[in-house]
Amino acid sequence: SSRIMLGPLVAAIDQGTSSTRFLVFNAKTAELLSHHQVEIQQSFPKEGWVEEDPKEILQSVYECMDRTCEKLTQLNIDISNIKAIGVTNQRETTIVWDKETGEPFYNNQNIPCPVAMWMVKCMLTEMLHYTCSVWLDLRTQSTVERLINRTPGRNKNHLKHKTGLPISTYFSAVKLRWLMDNVEEVRRAILSHRALFGTVDSWLIWCLTGGEKSGVHCTDVTNASRTMLFNIHSLDWDPDLCKKNTGKGILGLHVFTCLGDQSAALVGQMCFQDGQAKNTYGTGCFLLRNTGPKPVMSDHGLLTTVAYKLGRDKPACYALEGSVAIAGAVVRWLKDNLGIIQTSTELEKLAAGVGTSYGCYFVPAFSGLYAPYWEPSARGIICGLTQFTNKSHLAFAALEAVCFQTREILDAMNQDSGIPLSQLQVDGGMTSNKLLMQLQADILCIPVVKPSMPETTALGAAMAAGAAEGVSVWSLSPEDLSEVTSEKFEPQINPEESEFRYARWKKAVQRAMNWET
Ligand code: G3P
Repeated sequence: SSRIMLGPLVAAIDQGTSSTRFLVFNAKTAELLSHHQVEIQQSFPKEGWVEEDPKEILQSVYECMDRTCEKLTQLNIDISNIKAIGVTNQRETTIVWDKETGEPFYNNQNIPCPVAMWMVKCMLTEMLHYTCSVWLDLRTQSTVERLINRTPGRNKNHLKHKTGLPISTYFSAVKLRWLMDNVEEVRRAILSHRALFGTVDSWLIWCLTGGEKSGVHCTDVTNASRTMLFNIHSLDWDPDLCKKNTGKGILGLHVFTCLGDQSAALVGQMCFQDGQAKNTYGTGCFLLRNTGPKPVMSDHGLLTTVAYKLGRDKPACYALEGSVAIAGAVVRWLKDNLGIIQTSTELEKLAAGVGTSYGCYFVPAFSGLYAPYWEPSARGIICGLTQFTNKSHLAFAALEAVCFQTREILDAMNQDSGIPLSQLQVDGGMTSNKLLMQLQADILCIPVVKPSMPETTALGAAMAAGAAEGVSVWSLSPEDLSEVTSEKFEPQINPEESEFRYARWKKAVQRAMNWET
């Protein structure tokens, strides 16, 4: 059978917290032609710790690429037409690896003696589980406290004027500091100049460009702006921040083109104008509002971050970001930890069956609370239970929690910008849950708009890569935009009802923040 002629194709490696995907698009029409997805294991070796295996992440990328190419070949699509591949990734997750062997360093605290750790590594190389510290990980809580104690007036926003970020467990610098302080092997490798540090984009690009032989050690401004080592105004590593956070200069990292996943989603949703915003429901939930070429500092607990810089000579565009740590992760928790559902899709059915939480409120502060509170000591809480409460009500409360958290960051965003959003553009895995989308519109009291092609993160990364390679990617003419089909959810409950539920939620949040006192 003859090959289908489609013209140039663009692709994206989308390495998220819960899964990896490889997706191929028609560069002219943005049509998704084929993709493959592989789930990523997470481990929780101690309370608050969240780890993933960098080698499994790399392997999942290879698997997704292979399988997608097989599928394209079966469709008679010539894979040599893939002209550009963008990398987009979970941000902040921190990896340190050996540039001579390509091995990520071991940081499993179950083997406390460094000498034993070294011997075990020599003996059991094949069997070791290497790990990286995931953005959700809370082990750096005491590192954060120490850093904050050293600032004048114990101010968690002490570095915000340079980084746009509060000092928090979320960002890479504190994770790197922890590794340097606690993993002898990492410390030794740094002293002998064998260590490379990076976020997931750096690790993948280094491996994909030849690893220990010819690997390129790089990152981009969007990922760099989440390390807490990067000056978001000068768009360069800040020697002072590097010294404060790691005690040394950082390890020869260059800035390159790829996009953190939330930036890619902003691009994929075509939010190029000042004031345009999107909310992505992944493992966490991230609302970004484009603020144009000037970084805007939040007075309401949001982050200031580099949104994108599409080309060496192009200006950087900034965003205000409201980050929620736990969104899709609460579904995984209900499935894996409580076992009340077998698959994520069951949750919608369960919750829709009752259509109410019956006064039950669930604050899933598993990793403390991120925006707008930035309180690492907050912990999850379920309240308002009666003997009548059952798992369906809990399922409903879990979905409502995602919506209430979004309401909190949207309120902060509206207060910061002074111009309330009149509707919310959404994307990400959880948006296939129609009940969630309806609840979101009800709780925000504005319409929620979802594009019919939900893979906006990958599309954004593929578009950026295509642009960098000079492949004409889906242009933004008004005709193109009018072809973007979407689904709209209008608020269906009255605002008083919505406010009542939201006020209850706020009370539950206060309990989660002060649960120990
Ligand atoms: O900052 C973390 C974020 O980049 C992770 O995104 O989609 O894996 O929840 P996601």
